[in-house]
Amino acid sequence: MVDLRSDTVTRPTAQMRQAMAYAEVGDDVFGDDPTVNALEAYVAGLFGHEAALFAPSGSMANQIALQLHVPAGGELLAGADAHVVTYELGAAAALSGISTRTWGSVGADLDVDQIAAMIRPVGYPSVPTRAIAVEQTHNLGGGSIVPLSTLRALRSVADEAGVGLHCDGARIWHAAVADGVALSEYGALFDTLSVCLSKGLGAPVGSLIVGSRERIAQARVIRKRLGGGMRQVGILAAAGRYALENHIDRLAEDHARALRLAEALAPLGVVDPSRIRTNLVPLDLSKTSLDSPALAGLAAQQGVLIAPMLPSIARVVTHLDVDDSGLEQAITVLGGLLADAS
Ligand SMILES: Cc1ncc(COP(=O)(O)O)c(C=O)c1O
Repeated sequence: MVDLRSDTVTRPTAQMRQAMAYAEVGDDVFGDDPTVNALEAYVAGLFGHEAALFAPSGSMANQIALQLHVPAGGELLAGADAHVVTYELGAAAALSGISTRTWGSVGADLDVDQIAAMIRPVGYPSVPTRAIAVEQTHNLGGGSIVPLSTLRALRSVADEAGVGLHCDGARIWHAAVADGVALSEYGALFDTLSVCLSKGLGAPVGSLIVGSRERIAQARVIRKRLGGGMRQVGILAAAGRYALENHIDRLAEDHARALRLAEALAPLGVVDPSRIRTNLVPLDLSKTSLDSPALAGLAAQQGVLIAPMLPSIARVVTHLDVDDSGLEQAITVLGGLLADAS
């Protein structure tokens, strides 16, 4: 099987397992796990922030960050297709009493003036806007990248309004590699970031919240409250550290393979290669006779797994565990099915 459903399907490499096996550990709820502490300091340093906190998942890292910014009854602004809005199962409302208002953006194409105009000041009787969340790279936006200039403009808007700016940076590594932007440059633009070790980087689990020392101390309390306090979790932190030190630069290979796939399928009218920036390739099936579950089902019968995202959009994701021969197999199978369906 060539599994292109997500970059979360990777399995730890032999060297990563080695690093995990020999990791020094302690009880992290007591702050005693040296490998976790080192990972947190390392990731904070990458983004030029004071501190970071290891969390079990990207969703929990995002939700902790949102709680840091938005008190119950306050408002978060985010894109309608953002992960925090679409795929976290209403957590901001259900767990934190956060009201969410969305802009109708498509992926990384942000209209900063529109977002600025949406901000509502603190003061009775309207819901006060407390934070803005952006996603880098953008998952439903097909791995698209918010340009640095847009993020700088958004930072000015947030500063002027006195609201927090959070980055769901699950795949911020991909943006940094694709655009040649230092992680610290992104770090300087956000009050908090959540970053994932298990999307493309190849670690089995783990995300971090990055921010000021004060915010991360508070984040530690929120994490415990959510049941995310972990014990001898240095075993997982060691995998994450290995991934950060060895698997960031190679993301360029995943991006090149994604582009190769997009270029091969472009003549079938399902993808515009000029929009493919990183490792996610959305296939627009609206002009074919297949919907995405049907295409995914037929491809699976020929050994290629892809993800139905929306009825007319299927997603193909390149990652650490897909090499050139896997990619060529996917091109042959998807190309054949789509040619029959067009
Ligand atoms: C952009 C983005 N943010 C957050 C998450 C959540 O990560 P997790 O599945 O670890 O909760 C994902 C997961 O794919 C994602 O794509």
